[in-house]
Parts: sequence; C-alpha cells; structure tokens
Amino acid sequence: MKKLKIGMIGTGHIARTHLKAYEQIPNVEIVAACDIDPVALKETCDRFGISEEHRYSSVEAMLAAEKELEAADVCVWNINHAPCTIAALRAGLHVICEKPMAYNTAEAEEMKREAEKAGKLLMIGFVLRFSAENAMVKEFIDNGDIGEIYYTKATYLRRHGNPGGWFSNKNLSGGGPVIDLGVHVIDQTRYLMGSPKPVSVYAMTADKLGPRRELKKKSECRPITCGVTRTCDVEDFGVALIRYDNGATTLLETSYDLNCPDCGKKELYGTKAGVVLGDGPTKIYSDMNGYLVDIAPQLPNTEFIQMFVNELSHFVDCVLNGTPCIAVAEDGITVMKILDAIYESARTGHEVIIR
Ligand SMILES: NC(=O)c1ccc[n+]([C@@H]2O[C@H](COP(=O)([O-])OP(=O)(O)OC[C@H]3O[C@@H](n4cnc5c(N)ncnc54)[C@H](O)[C@@H]3O)[C@@H](O)[C@H]2O)c1
Repeated sequence: MKKLKIGMIGTGHIARTHLKAYEQIPNVEIVAACDIDPVALKETCDRFGISEEHRYSSVEAMLAAEKELEAADVCVWNINHAPCTIAALRAGLHVICEKPMAYNTAEAEEMKREAEKAGKLLMIGFVLRFSAENAMVKEFIDNGDIGEIYYTKATYLRRHGNPGGWFSNKNLSGGGPVIDLGVHVIDQTRYLMGSPKPVSVYAMTADKLGPRRELKKKSECRPITCGVTRTCDVEDFGVALIRYDNGATTLLETSYDLNCPDCGKKELYGTKAGVVLGDGPTKIYSDMNGYLVDIAPQLPNTEFIQMFVNELSHFVDCVLNGTPCIAVAEDGITVMKILDAIYESARTGHEVIIR
C-alpha cells in the first residue's frame, strides 16, 4: 500500500490530536516533526514514536534534511501559519494547515498563490465540515428537505475558556474567540449554505472580563513557553451580522469569557425546515400534514476524534488519489475576509463591505 510521508510542523496540543487520528489511517507514515519548543517536540515525538534523528528545532532544518517528505501538517501559532506553509510548499510538499488559515487575508492570499505556483494541494483544517452530524445535515440540505436557507446562527460561546498562552497574545494569534472559535462556526454555516460569497459585516467586540484568572480554573490553559509572554490583549466576546450575496444572513456570537452557559450551536433556517446542530442531538423543525413537527434524526455515536480521522483521511485521499478537496485555500481566504471585516467593523463602529 502506498503511504503518504508526512512531516509535522508544530507538535503541541492539536498536533497530538492529529497524530492520534493518523494512527487510524493506514496509508500514512509520519516521518519527521519539528517544533521551536524542545519540550513539546520531545513529549510528542516520544509519545508517537518519532525517532530522535527525525526531530528538528525548525521547519527549515526539517525541510532541508527530510527529502522524502511528500506532505506537511501545519499545527503552529496562527502568526506562523503563512511562513511555515509557504516554506513547505516551496519545498514541494502538499500542505494541510490548521484553522484559521492565516493571521490575515493578505497572508492567506499569498499562501494560495504559493500553492498554485508549486502545483500542490493546500487544504485548510475546517474540521467541523468532517463531523458525522455535519455530513448528515448536508445530505438533508442537498436533498432539498430544508429549502432555501436565509438565516443562520453561528454560536460558539465559552463561559470561562480563554486558553491563555499564545492564544491571548494578539501578536501571535491575531485575536481572541472571533478568529479562534468563530472561524469554525462561520465556516460550517457558510459551507452548509452552499458557500455563498460574503458581502458585508457589522460587528462588535468586547474585552470586559479578561481571562478571569482569579476564578477557579474551569478550562485547560496552555503553558507559557518559548517567548510567549503572559499577555491578554485579545477580545473576550464578539458578535457579528454577516450578509451574503444570496441574501442570507448569519448571526455570529462567540466568547472566551461571558456570563453565559457554554454553547456550540449552529442553527440554519430554511423555507421548508430549520435545523439545529452541535448542541446535543440534531433537531429538524418543520411541518407535516398540517402539524408542526420536530424531527430527531438518529446518528450512530461517534467519538470526538472521528472528525479528525475523517478530515485527515480526506487530505491523504486528495493527495494520493486526486479526490477533489472540500476545504480548499479559497474557502480559507473567504473566511479570513469575514474575520478581518469583523475586527475592522468592531474597531470603526461601521458596517464593512467585503469585495
Ligand atoms: N481544529 C481544531 O479544533 C483546533 C483546536 C486547537 C487548535 N487549533 C489550531 O491549531 C494551531 C495550534 O494550536 P495548538 O492548540 O496546538 O497550540 P499549542 O501551543 O499547543 O501548539 C503549537 C505549537 O507550535 C509550535 N510553533 C510555533 N511556531 C512554530 C514554528 N515557526 N515552527 C515550529 N513550531 C512552531 C509551538 O512551539 C507549539 O508547540 C492553531 O492554529 C490553532 O488555531 C485547531
């Protein structure tokens, strides 16, 4: 069996989730890994059996030494998505890059140009596209059961969930929950609507609560490592109204800290039915024979890791078998345009037009 030879760029939290998923994908070989943090590099490589001679302290060193690599998996801080992705593309590798695609739209566009120049796949890690419930809801939508979707709500609220470390350092992350969590639900709702083009955004962000370190820890916190200072200069809440060229609207609400229940709900309202997913079992709200009906489609239980297995299997399949990719650079750029517009609208207090 042909195995895709992959190098890991970044060996932190999400890289470990990816490595766990790769263990379930037979046509993959994890050949090498790099990280600027020696502690993360050692812990992750020890745990996943990447031998010492294939561990590197920089992406450049790994790409120079590991000539057999065919693909790279970019799992680094947002500020380093573009440089690491571009280095891997220039070395002739296919790349899957974690969300958000980049620090801003300009960098995302440069990444796409480099992928085109190299003739390599650049896939973006929009993992919610690969969940079982997302696939099921897409089937209902594609089958016409929901009708024309004209309003969606994209909610990803944490009550006390600032990950700290680089996530709350704007220079490294690009922002707080909007770019970190909002990105997931903006992409998922847009994908389920059939990828309309965004035309404008009106938004507000707040940093009223901060990371609330004085509270007893509810959430996990990233360690303060390699040059990351204990800063918190990102928003802790964001709300946005996103308008699309097909007339549809999405209301985004997202937070690291807000006095609210935790919630990761997506709502899609169409002319034939509404769907609510991501907050317990999926529900469809419609009518039948003159009665309002609530439908609860049954899905087999799947573990959290399965959507990463699905996502990374898709990447491998696209590279090895030429299967068309369903999360391409253009999708990443579109979402980056929305994210940039949210921050600009919040800063200026005005609606921002997206071109
Ligand atoms: N898909 C998801 O659900 C999901 C969940 C968490 C994080 N993420 C994304 O994954 C990325 C990483 O997040 P994380 O939670 O793993 O953070 P993390 O801090 O746990 O790990 C990031 C690692 O990247 C390393 N790094 C940074 N710059 C580097 C460079 N230039 N070269 C090599 N290594 C470098 C750091 O030293 C660190 O070990 C982020 O973009 C984040 O948005 C996605």
